[in-house]
Amino acid sequence: MAEILELDGVATAYDKADVLQGVSLSVQSGSITCLLGSNGSGKTTLVRSILGLTPARAGRIVFNGTDITRLPTHKIIAAGIACIPEGRKVFPKLTVEENLRVGAYQERSDKVTLARMTEIFQIFPRLSERRAQLAGTMSGGEQAMISIGRGLMCAPKLLLIDEPSLGLSPLFVKENFNIIRQINQRGITVLLVEQNVRQTLAISHFGFVLSKGRVVTSGTPSELSAREEVKAAYFG
Ligand SMILES: Nc1ncnc2c1ncn2[C@@H]1O[C@H](COP(=O)(O)OP(=O)(O)OP(=O)(O)O)[C@@H](O)[C@H]1O
Ligand SMILES: [Mg+2]
Repeated sequence: MAEILELDGVATAYDKADVLQGVSLSVQSGSITCLLGSNGSGKTTLVRSILGLTPARAGRIVFNGTDITRLPTHKIIAAGIACIPEGRKVFPKLTVEENLRVGAYQERSDKVTLARMTEIFQIFPRLSERRAQLAGTMSGGEQAMISIGRGLMCAPKLLLIDEPSLGLSPLFVKENFNIIRQINQRGITVLLVEQNVRQTLAISHFGFVLSKGRVVTSGTPSELSAREEVKAAYFG
């Protein structure tokens, strides 16, 4: 399998706070790759760096053969990366359908947009039933579906998902993981940021563990679940 995303020595800081201290990792095309790590280890910062929201100060990020390190966010999205942000962030005053349309804002053809929406309604029949409902009145689990659906509307090659199960009931968490697997089976590569270690490793092909802005270990799910760093990141 080829690498779709590669980070080499990425360092990122906010103002004076250094966060990522030279992160190198790669994501194989077609995989679900997870990024584990305790609170404040820099997971969201890494996602922000890939998207160009908080650009890397040093190092290189290559996506699909293109150096995207210094590209503006809209170009990175146009290149085929979508993000489902931490906290989901639906537009509460827009309907389900309008929220989905926002995800396809770079698509000019309404026909293409509608075809994608039909596909998303197949994945999430619930959203189809509630397409005219205001997103802010949907349940947490339903808002998670909107957020994932919106990410899929731009037909990404790579989907970054930042803590999708945070704040969801166990039933929705389970459903969410099933959906992520289903999305991956449709050919979309996934970089999954999670704290829900067991369920994340169950659907991932490979994983990296971040601690204090550095990759401390990486491996297959079975390798990782046996390692002390993984236990330490969550229970230590
Ligand atoms: N906008 C910001 N300005 C300054 N510091 C920030 C900013 N955002 C994050 N940080 C700091 O960067 C560090 C890493 O934060 P980050 O949000 O990347 O962690 P995380 O691994 O996503 O944590 P969590 O699991 O809690 O979401 C933290 O110390 C945090 O306080
Ligand atoms: Mg975070």
